[in-house]
Formats: sequence, C-alpha cells, structure tokens
Amino acid sequence: MSQTPTLNKPTRRDFIVLTANTMVGMGAAAMVWPLVDSLSPSADVLALSSTEVDISSVPEGQAITVMWRGKPVFIRHRTAAEIKAAREAPLAGMIDPQKDEDRVKKGKEQWLIAVGVCTHLGCVPVGYAGDYNGWFCPCHGSQYDTSGRIRKGPAPKNLLVPEYQFTSDNVIRIG
Ligand code: FES
Repeated sequence: MSQTPTLNKPTRRDFIVLTANTMVGMGAAAMVWPLVDSLSPSADVLALSSTEVDISSVPEGQAITVMWRGKPVFIRHRTAAEIKAAREAPLAGMIDPQKDEDRVKKGKEQWLIAVGVCTHLGCVPVGYAGDYNGWFCPCHGSQYDTSGRIRKGPAPKNLLVPEYQFTSDNVIRIG
C-alpha cells in the first residue's frame, strides 16, 4: 500500500508554530501601538512649543533646568573661569569640534543653554561633574565640558543648543 505524501500538508507542529508566530505578531503589534501613541506629542506639550524663562534669579556659577517640549533644558550661568576653559580648549581631537562662540549668543557668553539629553542613549547628564566640570552622564560615562561639548565617552555629539533668543536682558524664549 502506497503512503500518501505529506510534504505539503501542514503537520501538527507547523500548526503550532504558525499559531505561535501569529500570536507573537499580534503581541508585537499590540506593543508597538502604545509606543507609537506615546511618541505623539500631547496637546499640552504642543502648546509649549516655545517657553519663556526669567533667568534673573540664576546666580553666576549655578544652573537651572526647565522643561521644554517634554525635554529638560539646562540654563547655566557660567563664570568667567568656565567661559575661559571653554574657549581655550583645543578643538583638535574633540569628538564633535565646535567653537564655544558658536554655542552661545554674542554679548551673553555667560549663558549656556543646552538640551539636557545625552547624545549617546538619551540619559540626563549631571551638572558640575566630570573631568571638565560641565556635565557627566552616569549611564555610560560621557563627559561634556562647560560649553556642553562632548569630550570623553561614547556620546557622538555635543549637547544640542536649542533655538532661543533673549527677549530682554533677563528673559529668554526657547523655541
Ligand atoms: S546615555 Fe549618556 S553615556 Fe550613554
């Protein structure tokens, strides 16, 4: 008696694998949607597309963090020594060479404004820390200088300087 070929027929194992794969696919889709949904800015975040900050109460040598578009922004009132360190640092050999002069407003060099998100994997660096007394990211050890430039560690880019302007001597508008 000849046996019926079964090569093209799904076996019980195939069925289980197919079912399992389908369930994994459904699970993945179910997980992706909340992620995509969470990435869409909420109405209140959109409303904060720009924000005004009064910086008159930030003394020299200190910094504040404000939230803008759901991200922390560091506003640092730099000392003369911090500005000097940032300007004298040789660009050669920097991971993302950029002059300090190009990261601040002329005449307002004491104010450094930078998005407080490490350019490696997005942690929030700690201020007044690390070898350069700028910011230190505890996640994987990236070190930024007093200009927010990456100087050591795995981060590939300087801290982002957002678009901002001084609307008066003591008020900046970010965004
Ligand atoms: S996220 Fe900052 S060093 Fe990795």
